[in-house]
Parts: sequence; C-alpha cells; structure tokens
Amino acid sequence: MIEFKNVSKKFKDVTVLKDITFEIEEGNLVVLIGLSGCGKTTTLKMINRLIKPTTGTITISGEDISTKDPIELRRNIGYVIQQTGLFPHMTIRENTEIIPRVEKLDNEKITKKTLELMEMVGLDEEFLDRYPNELSGGQQQRVGVARAFALDPDVILMDEPFSALDPITRNSLQEELVNLQSKVKKTIVFVTHDMSEAIKIADKICIMDKGEIIQYDTPENILKNPVNEFVSQFVGKNRIWESPEYIRAEDIMIENAVSCVSTLSLNKALDKMRDAKVNSILVVDDKTKKMVGLVKPKQIAKVKDRTVPVKDIMVTDFQSAKPGDSIVDLLKVADENNISEIPVLDESGKILGLVTQNSLITTLSQQYFEDGEVL
Ligand SMILES: Nc1ncnc2c1ncn2[C@@H]1O[C@H](COP(=O)(O)OP(=O)(O)OP(=O)(O)O)[C@@H](O)[C@H]1O
Ligand SMILES: [Mg+2]
Repeated sequence: MIEFKNVSKKFKDVTVLKDITFEIEEGNLVVLIGLSGCGKTTTLKMINRLIKPTTGTITISGEDISTKDPIELRRNIGYVIQQTGLFPHMTIRENTEIIPRVEKLDNEKITKKTLELMEMVGLDEEFLDRYPNELSGGQQQRVGVARAFALDPDVILMDEPFSALDPITRNSLQEELVNLQSKVKKTIVFVTHDMSEAIKIADKICIMDKGEIIQYDTPENILKNPVNEFVSQFVGKNRIWESPEYIRAEDIMIENAVSCVSTLSLNKALDKMRDAKVNSILVVDDKTKKMVGLVKPKQIAKVKDRTVPVKDIMVTDFQSAKPGDSIVDLLKVADENNISEIPVLDESGKILGLVTQNSLITTLSQQYFEDGEVL
C-alpha cells in the first residue's frame, strides 16, 4: 500500500500540492486525472522520490520512503514516462535491459526476462535489434511499458503513457494493460487527461484540481455520484452511457412495487391492482415474505370463483433480477422473455423493487434528454 499523509509541495512560493492525503491499495490500478498543471506528475514523481514533498510523508508498505535509499527505492518502482523516454541510440534490447545491466544481473537471466517482457507487451523478438525510430509510436510505448517491468517491481508509475497514440492503438493498449494487471497484480499509478481511459482501466480514480484531491472513488461512484460541479463537468453528462454496466437494477427500480400475500382472494387482489393502476401484482408468502408468484388481471378474468386465494392461480416460474444486475442484463431478460416488468429480489428472495417498462424507458431516454430538453 502507498500512503500519502498531509503531503504538500511548494516550488519557491507557489503551492502546487495542498495537503494531500490518500492511499493506494496493493494490487490496485489508480488513475490520477485532472486539468493540465493540477499536480498529477508532481504527485507521481513523489512516489519514486524524483520530487520531495515540502511537508507530509509518503509510505510504501508502511515504510516512510524519505528514510530509504532512493536508488534502492526505484529498483522496486517501474516508471513509464510520456513519449516513452527510450534512448534513441540504443536498440530495443539495450533499452529494455539497461536497468537489469546496471544492477549487474546474470546475463542469461536478463536475456530470458527480455523475451518474456516482449511477449508480455505483444512485441515480436525481431524488434529487439531495431532502434526506437524504427518502431511506430505504439510499439515504442510497448517497449516503454516492458522496460518498466524489467526488474519485476511491485509498483509501476505511468505518466500519460498512451497519450500520443491513435484511438485504436490506444484502446488496445488499455485493454492489454487491464489484462496484464489482472495477471501480475502490480500496484499501478497511472496519469491521464482522458476520463474514458480512466473509467476503462481504473480500480479507483483520483480527480485533482489545483493541487487538491476533489474526489477519490471507484469509476462507478464517480459516474453516479460526482461530489460537485467540477467533477460532473469533468465526467461529462452522458459518460455513464459509455459504461451502461454501471446502471443497475437497484438504481432504476421503483421501490413501492404493488404486492399481496398469497392467501389474498382474487377479488381483493383485483381491487388492489385497480386502485394502484397497475397490471400485475407480486405475490409474497405470508410468513417468509419471499416472492412466490405473480398474478395478472388476465389470469383472474378466466376464473369464476374469485374468492379463492391468489396462490391457486399465480404464475410461479417468473423472471427476477438481482439488485446489482445491469440495465444491459435487464433489457436482455425483458427481451428474451417478452416481459415488461422484472421484480428485483434480494438474496433471500424478498422483494426490493420492480423494474418497469417505464423505468427502463425513462432511464434509456436520459442519454438524449435532460430536464425535459433535448441535449
Ligand atoms: N520544477 C518545477 N518548478 C516550478 N514549478 C513547477 C515545477 N514542476 C512543476 N511545477 C508546477 O507545478 C504545477 C503542477 O505541475 P505538474 O507537472 O504536476 O502538473 P500536471 O498535473 O502533471 O500537468 P500536465 O497534465 O500538464 O502534465 C504546475 O503549475 C507546474 O507549472
Ligand atoms: Mg504531467
């Protein structure tokens, strides 16, 4: 775990970081994001001691990094800078092996590791003897990433590593980073300007403005509950629709679904539906309160004796959703089963709410309308 405690930074008289406190969990990928000049690179460079805090402390795994030898510290921290920082007069092999050679690791080990790294970042061995200017920008970025992993560090710092790339190459490198991260479980601190990139790759996003942390949260929470106007603006109004999997049943269900106990008579159930102006009623067991069935007026219409309890005619093989199911899951269930309402049940089978056709349409239309106006 990396911990910033009340960290401030002044360059001469100018305060560029103001009392920053936050922690980065081991194995997480945390993205620092914010406008140009807000202090992202400064924050990043403090982790490997390229910049010293004016006040406050930074610890890694509980150890205050200011007490450690910087060279020793950096051995365990890979660093990828913008525009790769490859040495132009060295081949890809030499660039990749530079730190292991300085560390005087065994030759055979270095060669083996280099091949592994090339495979990890998806570059063919034949690139090893080329010079950086003989590689495309995306290929150079991959070498930059490979080099950061050369000593198998626990922590990797990446400062806008993909910013100079075209959207397609960038997308594929983002995906590869997420895959790689899930395999190797390094702690990665990644700087970007790009909210889509952040949402795609981050476990947590740290939104900074003018040297302060404005919100530090999961992508889902940042999208759903921006703490202020700055974050909303930064996130952009319709960003959630880039990640519809974050729109969940519990966010869009109505909570006062009309329900009745299974012993209620059909007459009474019908009255209840009429009063509430709904065309189905959810049936719960009187004792356990679990949902046991569903009744529609059409079914009741077929029955002569309306004094019988709803349990005699209710449908018991109904579809239901869990609170965390996404709108994409819900639409699929609605479509495949040709239904317009989906009850949302907790783990024990009790009713939490109901996703109705109306709630789905209202939610889906939010990407086009806001406050009744067309965006
Ligand atoms: N060595 C320095 N001396 C004086 N001021 C500096 C120094 N390094 C950075 N700054 C200032 O500190 C502030 C934060 O800089 P930093 O590089 O951390 O911003 P950033 O968020 O990474 O911006 P960008 O997105 O443009 O890379 C800026 O106002 C910058 O001008
Ligand atoms: Mg920067």
